[in-house]
Amino acid sequence: MTEAKPAPQPIFRKDYRRPDYTIDRVDLRFELGEDVTRVHATLTVRRMDGTPEGAPLVLDGENLAHVSVALDGRELSAGEYFVTPTSLTIPAPGAGFTLATVVEIKPQDNLELSGLYRSSGNFCTQCEAEGFRRITWFLDRPDVMARYSVVVEADKAKYPVLLANGNRVATGDLDGGRHFARWDDPFPKPSYLFALVAGDLRCFPGEFLTRSGRTVRLEIWVEPDNIDRCAHALRSLQAAMRWDEEKFGREYDLDIYMIVAVSDFNMGAMENKGLNLFNAKYVLARPDTATDDDYDGIESVIAHEYFHNWTGNRVTCRDWFQLTLKEGLTVFRDRLFSADMGSPAVARIGDVLALRTNQFAEDSGPMAHPIRPESYIEMNNFYTTTVYEKGAEVIGMMRTLLGEAGFRRGMDLYFERHDGQAVTCDDFRAALADANGVDLEQFGRWYSQVGTPVVRARGEYDADARSYTLTLEQAPPRGRTSAELLHIPVAVGLVGPDGPLSFKLSGETAASADTRVLELRERSQSFRFDDVAAAPVVSLLRGFSAPVELEVERSDADLARLMAADPDSFSRWDAGQELGRRVLLRLAADVEARRPLALDPAFVAACAEIVADPGLDGSLKALALTLPNERLLGQHQPVVAVDALHEAREFAFKALAAALREPLLAIYQSTAPQGQYRIERAEVDRRKLRNLALAYLVALGEPELVALAMSQFHLADNMTDSEAALACLIEHGGPERDAALAEFHRRWHKDPLVLDKWFALQAASGHPDTLERVTALADHPDFNLLNPNRARSLVGVFGMRNQHQFHRKDGRGHALVADKVLAIDAHNSQLAARLVAAFNPWRRFDATRQQSMRTQLERIAGHSGLSKAVREIVDRALA
Ligand code: ARG
Ligand code: ZN
Repeated sequence: MTEAKPAPQPIFRKDYRRPDYTIDRVDLRFELGEDVTRVHATLTVRRMDGTPEGAPLVLDGENLAHVSVALDGRELSAGEYFVTPTSLTIPAPGAGFTLATVVEIKPQDNLELSGLYRSSGNFCTQCEAEGFRRITWFLDRPDVMARYSVVVEADKAKYPVLLANGNRVATGDLDGGRHFARWDDPFPKPSYLFALVAGDLRCFPGEFLTRSGRTVRLEIWVEPDNIDRCAHALRSLQAAMRWDEEKFGREYDLDIYMIVAVSDFNMGAMENKGLNLFNAKYVLARPDTATDDDYDGIESVIAHEYFHNWTGNRVTCRDWFQLTLKEGLTVFRDRLFSADMGSPAVARIGDVLALRTNQFAEDSGPMAHPIRPESYIEMNNFYTTTVYEKGAEVIGMMRTLLGEAGFRRGMDLYFERHDGQAVTCDDFRAALADANGVDLEQFGRWYSQVGTPVVRARGEYDADARSYTLTLEQAPPRGRTSAELLHIPVAVGLVGPDGPLSFKLSGETAASADTRVLELRERSQSFRFDDVAAAPVVSLLRGFSAPVELEVERSDADLARLMAADPDSFSRWDAGQELGRRVLLRLAADVEARRPLALDPAFVAACAEIVADPGLDGSLKALALTLPNERLLGQHQPVVAVDALHEAREFAFKALAAALREPLLAIYQSTAPQGQYRIERAEVDRRKLRNLALAYLVALGEPELVALAMSQFHLADNMTDSEAALACLIEHGGPERDAALAEFHRRWHKDPLVLDKWFALQAASGHPDTLERVTALADHPDFNLLNPNRARSLVGVFGMRNQHQFHRKDGRGHALVADKVLAIDAHNSQLAARLVAAFNPWRRFDATRQQSMRTQLERIAGHSGLSKAVREIVDRALA
């Protein structure tokens, strides 16, 4: 703890070398124990062609108590092998041999939650990215793929259920009340896909009949109390399995597929072969405990991990720099799935909102990196929104360029070429290009370029010629002076005063109003639209066809036209957001200049039209009527005006509520639930709109409107409505807030996932006393820094989502989060490194706040014994 660690060294993509040795077979035996766990590993090792005869075998290890090592059955003595804290070296072991090692580990002390650890008394594992080396000596890199056979031994009463990857081939009893199970996985896999579970769990079973007629057994394993919360996860899994067969021709390959819900988990979930481990948050749902958004989250994460079986497991990554090969692609696949399961427009809007709020910020800050990073110190720090979400956008652009059928051809060729291999992003791109006879060379720059590119657009209408000329220009990301030219698909349409306009591009034979995709490959390109009947407003980047920032001169009236009439639902929403952003930024400027505030009547009128539009479903209406968040607004200011933005947004929210009071109240009253909670599209739409109306109404503070929230809170039969009402009451404050929070706590304090909501709602509040309340909550008996979900609910939500309170000028928000980061880093560096990223945007703020954040960053950086994960983030922030 006190000694400063040596500066950690980065690893570079350009230094990749194939391994000298590979491992074909792994036989593992786990003697699980309360004090100590013994791991016996027998590796069948082969020297690779081209490796010099005398090359040493160097295995990775971390926190292993070494017991013994034997080569081809002969125990080695000191001097025949070398052990350091992170390696086991066998000098010149030969061309083919078995290496048997025994180590001891202490899962009960493993609070990093990486490797083998305990959660709720059960044993479980998390090996991606480099956790397997915390279990046994190994070539812990994804390009070493082996067949695994695993024997798990444990006390039978305490751990009746013993699981590992593949098929269960033997079980039996042992002396001393112990028992064992043996699992064989027929598919070679990298070590990061290894998994083991032992515990007292219940099974929620199901089945899936594959298109070739095989029956796959599905098992969802949870703690006994949660057995009534598994149905949605099972349904989601079955839907995902069917969908991957229909859309990508991919069938599941083992006879059993297991999912285990774990209470202590650093990330969302993990796609271990045949044995997914999940953060319980993405499995468990019952109407009274999970919201509509939780149901959606479960559906998409279950699908994501399932889709990894082909994009990740059957075809895996050569090295960790290629992470987006499996993550970008699998996020893209789970998005297509979610769009098919629900509303494509709603799904797209949600994804783009998250991308802009989180990924654009990352891409313009100290942690900016290409979707395929060039270097890293701690790989776990690169499971980022850039690798995942921007990575998915990059895949999406290729699909836009190739078309749906062309993309499918490319995917088929990718699987045909690379099944069973560990490959690179270039291999993937080559398969798409080759299957379609197209050139994706220039497109490949999306894998190496950092930052959000800017696309500028300018249009001119010639009434006499009935033609419109659009000039598109690409420019480097803000704050960067140069960038290579990218290949950017720009989806466009034209909108006239009475709706969509038809047009003809050069080479087209007939005019139509359909969306067209322009390919921008030069610095600047002009496109001519003919047969345009009236002066158009251009609708650009429909469906968000590229992850760029768009600059186009459009008046407020132009935006209002798109907001009312763009046939592309995404662009329609986007126009409204841009209009809202302008209005709010002007209001923030008024706040700063101490001018009187007034909400732009044209904006109010546009919102009133949305409220009244019979053609919009409730979810889209709610999204259109949600003002841009403060973090997003701050991105559009040279220096984030924390307080002014908050005041402006609060003002606009209330002013809009006042202006639309009657129609919103009418909506609230006409959308009361009929009968029991149902998780159906129309019902979700209804709840979304109704709860949005409630939030506006309660903001007016009138007692009878606050009473609506109170009564909804009491009467709701489901968490969606209950949580929404509670959120309104928290914003409202006063005795209603205290009463509702106390009641919610009384009802749910034994339910960790629901209690997380109680913490998160308070941490997210815009109320001026939030910092004081969060400080007090950090000392609440139910708060627990060891549990990642709980820590994220309070510290993560406060630091990452509450711009106004986290960045309070007195610096106390900064100090609070820094304190928690240091406290967490002492046991869980991965989690601490996630939370410390709250300080990344520090240069975007005024001098006082910069100073305050810098002080905290330096305090963290100066802490002796800081983990390399946190050190990498703070060093980059301060550089
Ligand atoms: N592969 C997992 C996924 O599906 C993420 C696991 C990452 N875990 C970690 N500790 N880095 O997204
Ligand atoms: Zn993934």
